This record gives sequence, structure tokens and C-alpha cells, in this order.
Amino acid sequence: MSEHTAHANIGVVGLAVMGSNLARNLASREGNTVAIFNRSYAKTQGVLDAHPEAGFIPAATYQEFADSLQKPRTAIIMVKAGAGTDAVIDELVKVFEPGDIIVDGGNAYFPDTIRREKAVRATGINFVGAGISGGEEGALTGPSIMPGGSDESWVTLGPILRSIAAVAEGEPCVTHVGHDGAGHFVKMVHNGIEYADMQLIAEAYDLIRRGTGKSPAEIAEIFAEWNRGELESYLIEITAEVLRQVDAETGTPLVDVIVDQAGAKGTGAWTVQTALSLGVPVSGIAEATFARSLSSHPEQRAVAGALPGPSTGSGTDEFTVPADQVDAFIEDVRLALYASKIVAYSQGFDEIRAGAAEYGWNIDLGAISKIWRGGCIIRAQFLNRIADAYAETPDLPVLMTAPYFAEAIGRAQAAWRRVVVQAAQAGIPAPAFSSSLSYYDGIRADRLPAALVQGQRDFFGAHTYKRIDKPGTFHTLWSGDRTEIEAEDTH
Ligand SMILES: NC(=O)c1ccc[n+]([C@@H]2O[C@H](COP(=O)([O-])OP(=O)(O)OC[C@H]3O[C@@H](n4cnc5c(N)ncnc54)[C@H](OP(=O)(O)O)[C@@H]3O)[C@@H](O)[C@H]2O)c1
Repeated sequence: MSEHTAHANIGVVGLAVMGSNLARNLASREGNTVAIFNRSYAKTQGVLDAHPEAGFIPAATYQEFADSLQKPRTAIIMVKAGAGTDAVIDELVKVFEPGDIIVDGGNAYFPDTIRREKAVRATGINFVGAGISGGEEGALTGPSIMPGGSDESWVTLGPILRSIAAVAEGEPCVTHVGHDGAGHFVKMVHNGIEYADMQLIAEAYDLIRRGTGKSPAEIAEIFAEWNRGELESYLIEITAEVLRQVDAETGTPLVDVIVDQAGAKGTGAWTVQTALSLGVPVSGIAEATFARSLSSHPEQRAVAGALPGPSTGSGTDEFTVPADQVDAFIEDVRLALYASKIVAYSQGFDEIRAGAAEYGWNIDLGAISKIWRGGCIIRAQFLNRIADAYAETPDLPVLMTAPYFAEAIGRAQAAWRRVVVQAAQAGIPAPAFSSSLSYYDGIRADRLPAALVQGQRDFFGAHTYKRIDKPGTFHTLWSGDRTEIEAEDTH
């Protein structure tokens, strides 16, 4: 039997860190035989040499790769997102046949996935954009997987992806999210929520450190304690680890020697850009994304550092919580973090709901929260509560109005407000805490000053307005006699 007799049930293209780990994960599961291909063969050889136990079937060309796969051929692409993905698709389409399945497991922007799915579908080949979360460790041991694509492809792909996904409370962290770009859309919002969650944790740390003078190691213990309660999550857990770490070279906390400029790979920005287009306020995610941008402009920060703060003159803003109030302050911060986190997730799920409506995807929001319970960066106990909320009311318009979350916010509310006030008075930036609170107050308001905005828009642009007391659309003749007329609705 030739080496390239079709006996692999799954193939992986792209053997950098993510692809090689995913290929090893696949190979370690009962029933899978994995074909591997990489543009430069040296990487393929390296993976073969390092992992003889995996029984990989190597291919030096795309043709050999296709020949080594059983039909319907199924291949997961894990290459550099963008032009790399398009280049690989172009090659695979030449050697695959109708009914075969190409999966893009990279971090694609969902409109690209919609475009690629349409183009590949025209050849009769299935194209599945699958968000894969969990980084290199997740790829190896079990990621959270968010596949889109056709129902037909899910029949073949489902069992394979279930075999490699993380398992949370006995359930594999994968579900068929929806058609074409739905999987990458949901992965994008996952990353946006991750930005918000991380920023909120960072703000909590900053407030505690500056308000109480506790050391990073002491704050690590606070986070470790929080991780035993309702905030239990991977991000809280690793925050404690990072804060505990001591720099070997200087003997100081590592967090104090790391340059305070946060990087980003773009998925937070995509989440915010998409939300703007959909008209969905994801203010927590937006503030988290902008906070990274703000941190990364040292030239602006150097100049702006001379601007006065609340303790004008001294140069540093004083904020000292009295010793007898430290425990209460820390509890306030914990509650503010929890309430803001609820807002961030509520906003993220709102974006998924709006995206599903816009693009015609039938997304089960409860199922999404369940597949995020394991394998991915935002994994947390909390996600079970989201699943419960959608199980009870599948078309819940605002997630945080579900009884569990409404109660939690109600309980946290006073503390949340105190923390935002203290941060503002002390001159400590807490953009995600405060924008989340503003969103909360905005969405629950009886009446908003949007009425005045409508009046202004009508004044300068004749954009018209509706009245609360009768149907129709109206315009005031601002530059005339200021009487009101019925008008065409121009928004
Ligand atoms: N790293 C993570 O933690 C992480 C987490 C989630 C998702 N992802 C996503 O997973 C994907 C893979 O990530 P990665 O970090 O493993 O790899 P990467 O550094 O993004 O990409 C390197 C791989 O892409 C291949 N490649 C680039 N251009 C190509 C082209 N024109 N034709 C064929 N192959 C091409 C490279 O082949 P050569 O060896 O021949 O150069 C190499 O195998 C990316 O989309 C990434 O965004 C990564």
C-alpha cells in the first residue's frame, strides 16, 4: 500500500504552533488518522521527527495530501490568517472534490469567511470557518471550537471536532454555531468579551493597589480568594499567578517590570467595529479595546503626564483607603467587578443576537455560553448561569435582566457606584467599570436625553422626530414660524 493511499480521516494544513498542536490532539483521539501538510516541508519533517507516536501521514504536495485523505476529504487549515488562508484554499480547491470539506481554524474576520464560503460552495466543496479558542495549550489538550458552515459538513465534522474539544461538565465544548461566517463571528465576540474581562480585572487590581497600598503578592491572594466564589474563572486564576510572579533579575514583582503598554491582535477592534455597524452598544468591550490603545501611546502619555489631577500640585494623585475600611473597599471592588462583568457579557451576547439577525444565523445563545465553559480563555462557572437564563427565556432581549443577573447586579449596585465615584475622585482611570455602570443606568432609564438629541437633529438637519402622544413623524419649522408639521420619516 502506498503511503498516500487514502486512509487518513482528517488532515491539517499549517504546522506552526497551533496546527501542529491541533494535529497532535487529533492524532491522540481514538479513530483518527491524521494527514499533515505545511508549505515548507521542513516543518512537516520536524513535526514527524518530534512526534512519531502520532502516526502522522506526511504529504509534500497538496496532491499527495488530498490522496492521503478518505472521502469526504476533511482538512483543517491552521495558517496565518488573511492571504495565507486564501492561498491554501486556492490550492486545496484544485485537488479536492465536491462534497469534501475545508475547515479554516484560523482567526479569520467573519466577512472573509462569508466570502470564502460562498466562493468555495460554488465548486461543490464545503467550507467551514471554525473559531478555535484556547491558544496553543488548548489546541493540544482541548480547545473550545466554534464552527460555522453547512449542515452537510457538520455531519462529518461534528464527531471529529467533538473528539478533540475541551470537555466541560461532561459536554464537549463545540456546537454547530450557524451557517457560513457564524463560527468566526462568535469567536470574534468571544475575544471581545475576553478584552473586557481582562480590563475589568486590571482595573480592580489597580484600584486595590493604589487605594490600599497592598503588594502584588498580597493582591494575588485576594484574587485567589475571589476565584473560590462567584467570580471563579480562568482569567481570575491566572491573574493571581501573574501577580505572584517575582522577576528573577530584580527580585521585584514581575508586573512592576513589564512595560505598561497592552498589545492587541485586532479581534477586539473587529468586535467593536462590527458592533458599531450593527448599532449594538458594547461599551465595556470598546473601553477595554481603547484602554489598550491609550496605554500604547507613550509619546502622548509623556506629554499628558503634566496635566493636573485631583491633588493638583503634588504630582501624584493620593488615594488612601482608611485602614479600617480596607476590607469593605476590597469587597466593593469585587462587587463592582462582578456587576461590570455581567454587563460586558450581556453586551457581547447582544452583539451575537444582533449579528445572527443581520446575517440570518440561527444561533443558540445558551449553547454558545456552554461551549465557552471549557478550553477557552473566558471559561468560567458564570457561563452556566447564562445558559440557564437562555434555557428559561430563549429570546431574552437583555441578558442581565434574567433573574439571577438582575439579583446579582441589584446586590452589587451600591458598591459599584461607590467604586466608580472613588475612582473618579481619586483620578484613577476605570473606563470599563464606569462605562458599564453608565450602560446599566442608560438601558434601565425611563426616559433618556435622546429626546433632546432628536430635537437638535431636527433643528439643524430636518431629521424629524416622533411624539410620545400621537403616531406620525414630525418636523418643527425652526427657521420659520416654529410651528410643527407632519413630515416624511428621514430618521
Ligand atoms: N497562536 C495562538 O495562540 C492562536 C490562537 C488562536 C488562533 N490562532 C490562529 O491560528 C492560526 C495559526 O496560528 P499559528 O500561530 O500556529 O501560525 P501563524 O504564525 O499564524 O502562521 C504560520 C503558518 O502559516 C503558514 N503560511 C503562511 N502563509 C502561507 C501561505 N501563503 N501558504 C501556505 N501556508 C502559509 C506557515 O507556513 P510556512 O511554515 O511554510 O511558513 C505556517 O505553517 C492563525 O490564524 C492564528 O490567528 C492562533
